[in-house]
Amino acid sequence: MIGKTPPMGWNSWNTFGWEISEDLIKGIADVFVEQNLKAAGYEYIVIDDCWSKKQRDSKGRLVPDEEKFPSGMKALADYIHSKGLKFGMYSCAGTMTCAGYPGSFEHEFIDAETFASWDVDYLKYDYCYKPDGIPGHILYKRMAMALRNCGRDILFSACNWGNDESFNWMRASGAHIFRSTGDIQDNWESIKNLALQQLNKECYSGPYCYNDVDMLVVGMYGKGNVALGGCTDEEYKTHFSLWALMDSPLMIGSDIRKMNEASKNILTNKEIIEINQDIEGRQAYTIPQWNNSNCMAYIKTLTNGDYAIGFFNFGDTSGEMSLQFWDMGLPTSSGFGLSLRDLWKHEDLGTFTESYTLKLEPHSCAVFRAKVVKP
Ligand code: GAL
Repeated sequence: MIGKTPPMGWNSWNTFGWEISEDLIKGIADVFVEQNLKAAGYEYIVIDDCWSKKQRDSKGRLVPDEEKFPSGMKALADYIHSKGLKFGMYSCAGTMTCAGYPGSFEHEFIDAETFASWDVDYLKYDYCYKPDGIPGHILYKRMAMALRNCGRDILFSACNWGNDESFNWMRASGAHIFRSTGDIQDNWESIKNLALQQLNKECYSGPYCYNDVDMLVVGMYGKGNVALGGCTDEEYKTHFSLWALMDSPLMIGSDIRKMNEASKNILTNKEIIEINQDIEGRQAYTIPQWNNSNCMAYIKTLTNGDYAIGFFNFGDTSGEMSLQFWDMGLPTSSGFGLSLRDLWKHEDLGTFTESYTLKLEPHSCAVFRAKVVKP
């Protein structure tokens, strides 16, 4: 079954925009294997907007731009599949894609058939140039039905930025993930804003239909299509931790052919990825710090009885944070405490009762796995 846990992979948009090609995508597939991203769980390689010609063919089918993709999409899919990976593409619910290429409106079924004939495994579906008079939920229902009947398992990644109260209808429509926020940029303000936009949306996310807080900017360092500033490694670590706890898809957006050790350590932190991929798919809830509105704890309930606990400082000055275990359902009267393991330092910290207090530098975080134990 597809979509049981948040998808993990890479998407071309954040760094490359319209500058995409067959060689780039093949290179990314090679790096997935060579740099152990595949081993860490990354699977889908997705080509975003700007891959097609501006006109359909005489039978109404989408045609790849042969300058960018001279061997065609089936050959590219074969290459990606030969590495044990999956292949994703992009279209749009409107008459044109956001960058002005043909959209799938009134071509949903023929496009789904075309994607299936190229052995595509994932379709990102945007929301630009939406036709007047047709509600968004109908547009997504159309493509969901087309994909579900094209003869191939294709993960349906809806991208309408949380517009039109999509949390009310996306799951029922058949999408596997849906963008619940606007577009990300490679800077701290954007990461913080998207995380805050996602607050209190945890009830809309779960297995087979996850909230999607947009693709990762880890490792972009201010280079590429959505760069606009860049971040520090500490900020990328905070970003990755938040996305993991929010059960967002983990779709890398940087040029991983040039990935440095710091970005690789962030993107392949197995203990953090395990939290994101927990099979019950319960997105973290949040507990604000009562005396510091910049600090927040994120608590994610895990399948085996453990909890993931993230402490975040969104502010620009250092802050002290305290989590009262009572707030996550553990009263002192129970006689139980929490044994904590730091998932960035990979260290066991021992057992704590009642509360845990720590200091956090600006824009930084700490993430623990907690076991409920008798001290
Ligand atoms: C936006 C979408 C981006 C990217 C872009 C392509 O609407 O949110 O993630 O796909 O379109 O034009």
